[in-house]
Amino acid sequence: MNLEKQQNIIKIGQISDLHIGNGRELVQDIDVCGNFIQALDAIQKENLDLLVLSGDLADDKALAAYEFIAEEMKTYKGDWCFVPGNHDDLFYMNQVFGISKDIQNGEYFYKKMIKGRTLFFLDSSQDRISKDQLLWLKSEALQVKGEALLFVHHPPCYAGHVFMDSKYALQNIEETQFYLNPIENIRYVFCGHYHSELETFFGDKKVLISPSTQMTIEKDTPYFSLKSTKPAWCVIEWGIDFLNRRVIQGD
Ligand SMILES: [Fe+2]
Ligand SMILES: [Fe+2]
Repeated sequence: MNLEKQQNIIKIGQISDLHIGNGRELVQDIDVCGNFIQALDAIQKENLDLLVLSGDLADDKALAAYEFIAEEMKTYKGDWCFVPGNHDDLFYMNQVFGISKDIQNGEYFYKKMIKGRTLFFLDSSQDRISKDQLLWLKSEALQVKGEALLFVHHPPCYAGHVFMDSKYALQNIEETQFYLNPIENIRYVFCGHYHSELETFFGDKKVLISPSTQMTIEKDTPYFSLKSTKPAWCVIEWGIDFLNRRVIQGD
């Protein structure tokens, strides 16, 4: 690859579904804090342009979860951001992270520019993506020259995960796809929520679902079945004409 192409690559880390409890406590006997720290320490060495925490930062909307994360993020040297998940509390997130300028009608959605390219972040914490956000995304994406990426906690489609698809899928998949399908310059959607490493498509959009640092949930059973309590996270490389995602498994 020539130098110019290499310099145009944007490197993004994704850590998802931390499910931090009331501070440092174990959550369902899992050391969720230790798992998150392991992921953060590893991803710190990747020289990222951006780190995204893709929702369910907290397990049960506890203020102490965000205080713990804020404390840990003081050690992180690069640019980072987050989207809220269904286990999160936007009031406490705002109290700890000061995000009020991007909260509209109780929803946290925004865009970021990295090396002249655009990334969009939507709020699905109410198990749906509101029409207001979808209309905003549509008009913003139209103004972007070239490709943009989208991050949102819930996959905007079913994903071949029997348990999550049947119990916890996004509540307005049809409406969301109605607005996303015609947005030609968004071809990749990055999600969490399913606690599994998955890739799927709707229309021409590729949906890349990150595993969790809390736990992996078995995808082939209709009931909840714990597959692993080892953390996993992702590193995405986004070039002008390619996109590559690596999933990294911790201990
Ligand atoms: Fe989750
Ligand atoms: Fe979730």
